[in-house]
Amino acid sequence: MTNKIGEAVAGIRRIWKEEPSVGIILGSGLGDLVHEVAIEAEINYGDIPGFPVSTVEGHGGKLIMGSLSGKKVVVMSGRFHYYEGYSIQDTVFPVRVMKFLGIKTLMLSNAAGGVNRSFKVGDLMLIKDHISQFMPNPLIGKNDAALGPRFPDMSEPYNKKYMEVMSRVAVDNGIELRKGVYVGVTGPTFETRAEYDMIRILGGDAVGMSTVPEAIVAAHMGIPCLGMSVISDLSLGEEDIPITHEEVLAAVKKAGPKLSLLFKQFIAAI
Ligand code: HPA
Repeated sequence: MTNKIGEAVAGIRRIWKEEPSVGIILGSGLGDLVHEVAIEAEINYGDIPGFPVSTVEGHGGKLIMGSLSGKKVVVMSGRFHYYEGYSIQDTVFPVRVMKFLGIKTLMLSNAAGGVNRSFKVGDLMLIKDHISQFMPNPLIGKNDAALGPRFPDMSEPYNKKYMEVMSRVAVDNGIELRKGVYVGVTGPTFETRAEYDMIRILGGDAVGMSTVPEAIVAAHMGIPCLGMSVISDLSLGEEDIPITHEEVLAAVKKAGPKLSLLFKQFIAAI
């Protein structure tokens, strides 16, 4: 595993020699933040040794390197989802690579369905915890002790200090921030009414098809994480109309500038 990571790191280092302190994964339709980065290099996933290739509409499929808020960053514009057919270990490979590039902070973003009845489309939800039990765990298999422990602690998958910093940044900018539990599912189906109800009963506030495996691997390697969901649709009530991918992308696009501002200022603040 470390060999494969090393090859990817070497491939990236050939075109960019800096050491990033922050890694950012931009979810579906959240590519706007890239425009804020002073880009120094970029590389298609397909050109990075060992990287899977992104396929889904709305996903850029590029690693972007540069400066943001005075810090060196590496940004994944588009991520790998389990539902695309990659192994769960492949979906988290880029997080391993970012760690070995040198990141000290991982920022995760996604589009998610709101199951908390008080949420509205376009809300931002800071992820305070997650429930991973509906997706395979990316650490299943032989453990590489060079990367992390066999049985990682998950008491703080999302760093408490980062949550405080982000909450303050939101208040300073007059942006309302929800906080809640993100439930990870495989997709690609959206949930049935009964499943949304189940997720709510289990303590979930939002549900989505990404992020959880990445946060697990970050915890495995000791990278503190921040997670943010854009609420792109609301769980089905009795009378609600079906959810579409187009609706998700449109909602996310609208909330994009808020997320970009918060991420930018968070990076300046840490
Ligand atoms: N469910 C699962 N994943 C999602 C949803 C949803 O409602 N919305 C955006 N991603």
